[in-house]
Amino acid sequence: MSEEYNIGIDLGTTYSCLAYIDDSGNPVVEKNYEQEDTTPSVILFNDVGERIVGSPAKDMFLMYNNDRFILDIKRKMGSDYSVNIDGTVHTPTTLSSIILTKLLRDFEYAHGLDNNSIKKAVITVPAYFGQEEREATVNAGKIAGLDEVNILNEPTAAAICFGFGNNAEGDSKKVLVYDLGGGTFDVTILQIDGKTFTAIATDGERLLGGKDWDDALKRILIPKIAEMSGLTEEEIEADRDIMDKLIFDSEDLKKRLSTSESTRGAMSIGGRRVVYTVTREEFEEATKPLLEETINKVSEVLDSKNLTVADIDAFLLVGGSSKMPQVKNAIVEKFPGATVKIYDPEQSIAKGAAVYSRSINVLHDAGTKLEQLPDNEAPADAAEKSQMLDEIAKETKDAIVVHNVLSKSFGVKVQDESGNEYVSNIIFRNETLPIVNSKTYRPRVDGQISIDVEIYEDNARKVNDEMRTDLSEANLIGSFSMKLPEDVTTSTPIKIRFTVNDEGLITAYVECLNEHTDYQLKTKITMSDEEIAKYRSIVEASNS
Ligand SMILES: Nc1ncnc2c1ncn2[C@@H]1O[C@H](COP(=O)(O)OP(=O)(O)OP(=O)(O)O)[C@@H](O)[C@H]1O
Ligand SMILES: [Mg+2]
Repeated sequence: MSEEYNIGIDLGTTYSCLAYIDDSGNPVVEKNYEQEDTTPSVILFNDVGERIVGSPAKDMFLMYNNDRFILDIKRKMGSDYSVNIDGTVHTPTTLSSIILTKLLRDFEYAHGLDNNSIKKAVITVPAYFGQEEREATVNAGKIAGLDEVNILNEPTAAAICFGFGNNAEGDSKKVLVYDLGGGTFDVTILQIDGKTFTAIATDGERLLGGKDWDDALKRILIPKIAEMSGLTEEEIEADRDIMDKLIFDSEDLKKRLSTSESTRGAMSIGGRRVVYTVTREEFEEATKPLLEETINKVSEVLDSKNLTVADIDAFLLVGGSSKMPQVKNAIVEKFPGATVKIYDPEQSIAKGAAVYSRSINVLHDAGTKLEQLPDNEAPADAAEKSQMLDEIAKETKDAIVVHNVLSKSFGVKVQDESGNEYVSNIIFRNETLPIVNSKTYRPRVDGQISIDVEIYEDNARKVNDEMRTDLSEANLIGSFSMKLPEDVTTSTPIKIRFTVNDEGLITAYVECLNEHTDYQLKTKITMSDEEIAKYRSIVEASNS
């Protein structure tokens, strides 16, 4: 019998990390082949057809053309970006699968397992990832050889790791997770009751993270290097070697400024050695607006649920960028009296995912049993099923209960009397899953034969039930048509109901008189098993 491992993977913008549950039942991070706790999310396609992932790729950044490198691919997840390298087209999904492959194969190697023996894992994503980004992440896991991929929100993972060993049976706490990583910023408030984790509200900035602090530092360095080298700033910016070197130098300097007030960098320009100094004060000054943006988000999220600092038992700062001392200082200053903990910034998410993975594995049978119950005992709807599973989980050792909030609002395209089109939102971001809600619409004309239901995802906040969103600010994620009964008039009600289960799977149900249609939302990037197998063979073919 092959041993079952409970694996959690934090697939990060700049660094990725794999954790598992060890023999004593604790989540631990597995070191990669290079003996590092985290693996840079960097891929190099070298000139002899090899694919190199992690530090060995990062170390060669100056030795290859930078179009052979892939950095920050998570920022493009779910988009239709693609890149052709040596005749093979890669997408964010296949590139992410290359990073996942490295983590999984290194784990198997360390544990003396055959390649591809790990078949299940939990992969974390930012809380505000939409349907497409989530599905792209699942596909990346499958292409990397996993049969079963479960997605967990990063802040929830951090809270689970915190709750593990910190929250006794019957304990009740509210935590705010501030996650400033390499590429993304997330803030989430969670309620922890014993082993139940319920997200209450979440928000974030998709394109805000350590990278932006690196860029700001780079902008401080350029004039300094210009002055020391006698070149102009323009000349420096046009010099590929200098600019490439600065990408990772600025990150190194930034990290050093977390522990010293001033640091130095050096490079050789035109045969001359140029040494430059930068102080923490200069760096903090230049990056103040970025930090403020994160602090404002924290206030907004608290306000959105009418909470104050006094309601929060702990502010958990996670993500590698939380190691910058100004982050904690700014939070303490803005929220006097808050309990602020820098909480295992680079590992807590992967560890929490491993704890969740174990829970899924121990609860696996419970879900199947519920599905096999006779009709009269079976749960009537998603909400009841969720409740029954919670009850089972509470009595099962090592099981935890997780309730997410919806990360986006969802609605349908409608027209007002003047013919203006907009999205009428039916379910809203920050509502706790599972959710059922419906709205009633009318045909546009008497005798209308059919309707096209177009489902959109957007960022609307629920202020009142009538929230509408401009089409330009929404993303079409699915559509279907339904035949209408004969003789409808402009006053015949058409009811559209959205149901979201615990996993965030959305079903639309449309009812008009005696006609009805069920529609399971599939995003446009849904991949078939054949496609997964095809990409898998491409990814494997370039495996070094
Ligand atoms: N000592 C430090 N001081 C400042 N920044 C640091 C330090 N250590 C790591 N970082 C930064 O933390 C970031 C990486 O953090 P983390 O691994 O949490 O992010 P990620 O998971 O790659 O990104 P994301 O969660 O946004 O997808 C990088 O920008 C890195 O430079
Ligand atoms: Mg992260």
